[in-house]
Amino acid sequence: MKFFVDTADTAEIRDLADTGLLDGVTTNPSLIMKAGRPMLEVIKEICAIVDGPVSAEVTATDFADMMAEAEILSAVADNIAIKVPLTLDGLKACRHLTDNGQMVNVTLCFSANQALLAAKAGATFISPFIGRLDDINLDGLDLIREIRQIYDNYGFETEILAASIRSANHVKDCALIGADVATVPPAVLKGLARHPLTDKGLEAFLADWAKTGQSIR
Ligand code: E4P
Repeated sequence: MKFFVDTADTAEIRDLADTGLLDGVTTNPSLIMKAGRPMLEVIKEICAIVDGPVSAEVTATDFADMMAEAEILSAVADNIAIKVPLTLDGLKACRHLTDNGQMVNVTLCFSANQALLAAKAGATFISPFIGRLDDINLDGLDLIREIRQIYDNYGFETEILAASIRSANHVKDCALIGADVATVPPAVLKGLARHPLTDKGLEAFLADWAKTGQSIR
């Protein structure tokens, strides 16, 4: 399973990239707003930190303007994945962009039928939003399961990029279901390494080691 981080905070991205665990980055207009810097500047900086796909989202809603924005965004770096919304115009843009060899992430997916259309439009990634479905008392993980089955039924190569992840359990369940990628907020991603028994065990080992009076170096 690949790990992307869902943020436009370049300090966080640098930190996580240094661990060697990071396969890519996703951003969206809300995350760019939080970063409080010009989008193209932020995206360019992120692409210099991370070799894997960096999703940059169009803000136009009609096909022609999406294509014009995509041209500007894709010129930033070779590892840009153009993020388009799951609308008919977005799917049309997806088809045109992927036909020209551009990576595309179709975002704001909330149903299996939407994911089916994105795969037919040649999407590189489909982003089903788990947390936002859970927020309205639906089951986001059910959606990941349905998409996995549909893509496997037909051999679609579109990667399932589980998004709107809120917890470590979301990550584990996505991995069990077989999502190809999880895009995870920095705090949740770092939290995956933590376990109270790891902390307790380490503390005990270090205390015993100190009693030996030895040093490895
Ligand atoms: C995905 O690409 C989105 O940026 C993101 O996962 C949305 O998450 P949210 O529902 O926590 O805003």
